[in-house]
Amino acid sequence: MKLNKRVTFLVFIVLGYQSTFAQKPSSVEVTDQKVSKLLAQMTLEEKIGQMNQYNGFWESTGPLPQEESAKLKYEHLKKGWVGAVLNVTGVDNVRRIQEIVVNESRLGIPLLFGSDVIHGYKTIFPIPLAESASWDLKAIEQSARIAAVEAAAVGINWTFAPMVDISRDARWGRVMEGAGEDPFLGAKIAAARVKGFQGESLSFPTSIAACAKHFAGYGFAESGKDYNTVDIGTYTLYNTVLPPFKSAADAGVATFMNSFNVLNGVPATANSFLQRDILKKKWAYRGFVVSDWGSGKEMIDHGFAADLKQVAELSANAGSDMDMESYAYINHLKTLVEEGKVDLKVIDEAVSRILRLKFELGLFDNPYKYCNFKAEKSNLLTPEHRAAALDVAKKSIVLLKNKNNLLPLKKSQKNLAVIGVLASDKNSPLGNWRLAATDSSAVSVTDALSAAKISYSYAKGVELVYGKTNFPDELSINTKDSSEFAQAVALAKQSEVVMMVLGEHGMQSGEGRSRASLTLPGLQQQLLEAVYRVNPNIVLVLMNGRPLDISWADEHIPAIVEAWQLGTSSGTAITQVLFGDYNPSGKLTMSFPRSVGQVPIYYNHFASGRPGPKAEVFWSHYTDESNKPLYPFGYGLSYTEFSYADLQLEEQLSGKLKVSVKLTNKGGRSGEEVVQLFLHDQVASQVRPVKELKAFEKVLLAPGETKLVVFELDSTEFGFYDQYGKFIVEPGEFEIMVGGSSEDLLKKNWTLRK
Ligand code: BGC
Repeated sequence: MKLNKRVTFLVFIVLGYQSTFAQKPSSVEVTDQKVSKLLAQMTLEEKIGQMNQYNGFWESTGPLPQEESAKLKYEHLKKGWVGAVLNVTGVDNVRRIQEIVVNESRLGIPLLFGSDVIHGYKTIFPIPLAESASWDLKAIEQSARIAAVEAAAVGINWTFAPMVDISRDARWGRVMEGAGEDPFLGAKIAAARVKGFQGESLSFPTSIAACAKHFAGYGFAESGKDYNTVDIGTYTLYNTVLPPFKSAADAGVATFMNSFNVLNGVPATANSFLQRDILKKKWAYRGFVVSDWGSGKEMIDHGFAADLKQVAELSANAGSDMDMESYAYINHLKTLVEEGKVDLKVIDEAVSRILRLKFELGLFDNPYKYCNFKAEKSNLLTPEHRAAALDVAKKSIVLLKNKNNLLPLKKSQKNLAVIGVLASDKNSPLGNWRLAATDSSAVSVTDALSAAKISYSYAKGVELVYGKTNFPDELSINTKDSSEFAQAVALAKQSEVVMMVLGEHGMQSGEGRSRASLTLPGLQQQLLEAVYRVNPNIVLVLMNGRPLDISWADEHIPAIVEAWQLGTSSGTAITQVLFGDYNPSGKLTMSFPRSVGQVPIYYNHFASGRPGPKAEVFWSHYTDESNKPLYPFGYGLSYTEFSYADLQLEEQLSGKLKVSVKLTNKGGRSGEEVVQLFLHDQVASQVRPVKELKAFEKVLLAPGETKLVVFELDSTEFGFYDQYGKFIVEPGEFEIMVGGSSEDLLKKNWTLRK
C-alpha cells in the first residue's frame, strides 16, 4: 500500500513535470506569439511599411527636411510606414529617427538601422579577400566581432555583410569583398563572420544582425563586368554558389540580401526558385530577405517588369520581403493586395519575418538599445581593436616569391630605397567600403618604417591622379606622366635594396570597379622595369583588391609580397613581415592568372575530355599561354620551410576516414603552415572537380619540429549535389591529397564503400 502510494506520487510528479514542461513555450514560440499579436493589430499600410527601407534622407539632428521627397519620407516615418533605414549612423542621429517612429507612429514599431559594415567600422580590418588568405577562422570571427562592437556603438543594428559570393573572375571588382574561389573555405568563413557579427545571442548589446549576400550567383557576372548577366547551370549553383549561403543560414544569419543579377533569365529579386523554393522551403530559413539597393526597380531596365507596380507584385510574390530604395512596395503593394494580385498571406509572412528580428534584437524592450553615448565614445578605434586589426593584417599577407632568401630584410639595412606612391598613401590601404574610417588614417609603409626607426630614402615615381570631380572612377595612378621616374631610378641606382610598393589604389576595386586588364595600373609596370634596369635587387610589395597579372614581376623580381589592402594597421603589418618580426603564413584563396585571357581561372575545375599536355594541337589549352595559374589557390611561402611525409589513410570504427600526415618545419625559425586536404572523385554520375578542398588546419611549428596532422572525413565530405539539388554520396574510388597548396600535394587512393 505504502509502496503503491509512493509510485502514484512519483507518477504524479513526473506527469506534472512533463505537463509543465510541455506547456512552457520555447523562446522561439514566445517570439512567434508576440509577432502574431502585433501583426493582428496592424493595418495593411503599417504592414507594408515594415517592408519598406529608405536610405538616410536628412541630417536628422538639424532642422526638419525641406526637400519634397525627404518631407514625404519623414511623413512615412511618422505613420510607421518605414521598417528600416540605411546609412543613418551616430547615436544622436539614430536616436532622433527612432524617436520619431517610436513616439509618433501609431504602434511605435522600432526601426532597423542597416549599414555596410564590411570590414570594420572605425577600425578598418583587411578587406575580406585578404582576411580569407589568413585561413584563420578565429581571427576572422574576431574581426567581425569588433566590427559589430563598433557598429553597435554608433546605433547600427544590422550589417549588410558577410558577402559570401564565390567568384572565379578577378576582373570583377567585388572579389575584394568575398572569401575567394572556394565554396568549402567560403562556407567556413561565412559562418565565422556571421558568428562574429551576431555574437552568442542577438539580444546582447553588441550583437548586430548579419546579412548573407548577394543571393545568388552575383559573383558569376559574365566577363567580370559588375551587374552583368549570370548564366550558370544548376550544378554550379548547388555545388559552388549556394554552400556559403547555406552555411550562413545554418549559422543563424538573421537576413539575406538578393542580388542585381538574373539567374536563368529571372532577376534574383523576383526569383521564386531561389527565395521561396530553396531558401525558405528547402532550407526552412526563418529570417527575411531584403532586396539589393533598387534591385526591384532595375527589373524594369532588365525588361522583366513593365513598371514599378509589376516590380512590387513580382518581388513580393517571389519572397523578397523588404524593398531597399525601389519605392515599389510603399507605392503599389496596397493596391496589389486589393486587386488580389498579392495575397495578404504573402504580406503577413514577410512582415512576421521582419518583426521577428526586431523582437530577437530586443528592440521592443529597448528601441534605443544601440543608442549608448558612452559606448560611442569609448568603443571605437580602441588600442585592443587596433591590435586585433594588426594581428589579422599580418596573417593576411602572402609571400609569393623569395629568391635566395632576400627577405626578411635586416633592420640595420643600409641604403634602402622605397619607391611607389602607394608606399606613403594612407588612404588606399583602407580599401573600399571603409565606412567610418577617417580618410587617410591608415599607417602607411613609410610611416611604419619611420616608426620602427628603419632608415630609408623615398621617391614616389608615380602619383595618384585626381579627376575634376571626386567621383572615384576618375582617380587613377599616373597613366601618362613619367616625369618622376628619373628621381626614382637615380635613388634605386645608389641603393642596396629597393622596396617597391605598387598596385591598385583603394577605390580601384569594389562595387562597379570591374577591370578589363589585370596588370599594374597606370605607369607602374614601366616604373618597375625602369628601376629593375638599374637595380634588380627589388622587394615588390603589392597592394591590391584582387589577383593581378604580375607575370613579368614573377619572372624578374626576386621577392614579391602580396599585401592587399590591410586596413588601419597596414604599414605596421607589412613592415613586421618584411623585417622578420612576423613569419608570413597567408595562402591565396584566389588563383593568380598569368594573363587576363586565362580568367576565369580556378583550381577546382572539371577535367576536360581532352587533357594534356599533348604534342599535337587538339587538346584543351591555349597556344600562347600555359593552362596553369601564376600562383595557385592555397599557395603561399614562409621564411621557414615545411615538408610533408607519410600520408596515411585509415577507416575508423565510426566509418569516418582518418587522414594523417607528418608535417616538419625544416627551417630555422618557427612558422605557421596551412595544411590543406583535397579530394577527387574519380568516376561519378556527374563530372567532378579535379580537386576539392575538404579540410584544412593552420599549424604552428617550432624549428625542427614535426607534428602529426590528423583530419577526419565523414561520408558527407565525399558527396555532392546533383543538377537537381539532391545531395548524393556515391561509393567508389577517390584520390586523397594533402599539402601546402592546391598544386603541391601528397596523394593516395581510397575506396569509399557502400
Ligand atoms: C550593394 C550592396 C549594398 C547596398 C547598400 C548595393 O549597391 O550591392 O552590397 O549592401 O548597395 O549599400
